[in-house]
Amino acid sequence: MSLGKTGREQWGSKLGFILAAAGSAIGLGNIWRFPYLAGENGGAAFIFIYVLCAFAIGIPVLIAEILIGRSTQKDPVGAFKALHKSPFWPAIGGMGVLAGFVILSFYSVVAGWSLGYVVEAIKGSFYQYTAPDSAGKHFNDLIGNVGWSVGYMAAFMLLTMLVVYFGVQKGIERGSKIMMPMLFGLLIIVTIQGLSLEGSSAGLSYLFNPDFSKINAKVVLAALGQAFFSLSLGMGAMLTYGSYLKKKDNIPSSAVWVAVLDTSVAVIAGVAIFTVVFATKQSPDVGPSLIFRTLPAVLTQIPGGYIFSILFFVALVLAALTSTVSLLEVVTAYFVDEKKWDRKKAVLIFGMACLLLGIPSALSFNVLADSTMFGLNFFGLTEFIASNLLLPIGGFFISIFVGWVWHKATVRENVIAGAEGSFGKYPWLLTTWEIVLKYIAPILIFIVLLSSIGLI
Ligand code: PHE
Repeated sequence: MSLGKTGREQWGSKLGFILAAAGSAIGLGNIWRFPYLAGENGGAAFIFIYVLCAFAIGIPVLIAEILIGRSTQKDPVGAFKALHKSPFWPAIGGMGVLAGFVILSFYSVVAGWSLGYVVEAIKGSFYQYTAPDSAGKHFNDLIGNVGWSVGYMAAFMLLTMLVVYFGVQKGIERGSKIMMPMLFGLLIIVTIQGLSLEGSSAGLSYLFNPDFSKINAKVVLAALGQAFFSLSLGMGAMLTYGSYLKKKDNIPSSAVWVAVLDTSVAVIAGVAIFTVVFATKQSPDVGPSLIFRTLPAVLTQIPGGYIFSILFFVALVLAALTSTVSLLEVVTAYFVDEKKWDRKKAVLIFGMACLLLGIPSALSFNVLADSTMFGLNFFGLTEFIASNLLLPIGGFFISIFVGWVWHKATVRENVIAGAEGSFGKYPWLLTTWEIVLKYIAPILIFIVLLSSIGLI
């Protein structure tokens, strides 16, 4: 990032922005959450709906969110304040800040598991697995241990705080440029290994042969929520990153890049994991523990597996870190810009508060496992509220704002700036985008939300 005319930080290049936005988008959502949701929701049919949601709704909303940020050069609350007089819209920005805080709390638990697995990889623990069951048992023993799960969650949160405390520019921007390609390369190696296993084709057919009778409201809600979660949409992260863009940057093409990269990583992770699940005759619907049960055992079978397994979990931790940084950055940007807090103070206070909120999530896999509400433990409940309710609601209002509330000519002028060769040249592209934001996205999100709370 460099400083713009106004003294506000800006990305150094278009690539810098795409990598940072892709860094926020690509994370545990792709490698941990997407495969386990696909496994719980019937495989290929879920993936089909997911890809549809990511491209038909995700990309238009992503463009809208980045646009609000770039046009106002502000945090989510300040951005809406700058664009509209009513207090309602800044409150939508505020809801995003809250969602970021809640997501960070449960996300850090899983990121903590990944950090703990780096240590397990170094210890060579994966070599003790004799059958797929022993990988599952090892995982359950670890997360069942209060000290292990809370400790690594806290360690990961401190890591996130450290990065945001010292600023995002050098660490994260440079870090993502090295770690993202490395993660990609390692995933491909693991995928090839998975494909070479006997019986892996059953995994491919589970992933790519949709059984449309499996699609119901629950599957569509999970797919839509995951599209928002995975693209970091609906809570102001992309808005905040967009606020560091220059006027001449091309928003639609960056948004397409981010979505294509994000979806490819998710699908490749799906192949890596489900080939193993089916080749080793495990069940696809075990939930959040899925990658920790499947990948370690395969990693050890690759020549040089000891090193690969360490690198894999290190890359996973870093992918998670580029996402958590964007989450804590939204909360921090709000308190710095709107409340004039010192950046360091905001990071310390909200990082610690989030760490505290993460504790019941970490305990949801041991001492609090049986305390449930609506059939979900604390972890599941915060995950559901943030991903399946707050993010789609945020996306709904962002579409309404850009589609209906914001002055149409201003929106057009702004979105065409930098995109003269696409939105500027082909009016049908612009109109399609407007139609999605005005009608398709809000109506679909609304229907899905109503059915998720049981109203239809
Ligand atoms: N998109 C991130 C992931 O897939 C999670 C995230 C959600 C990050 C919302 C920021 C905002 O891992």
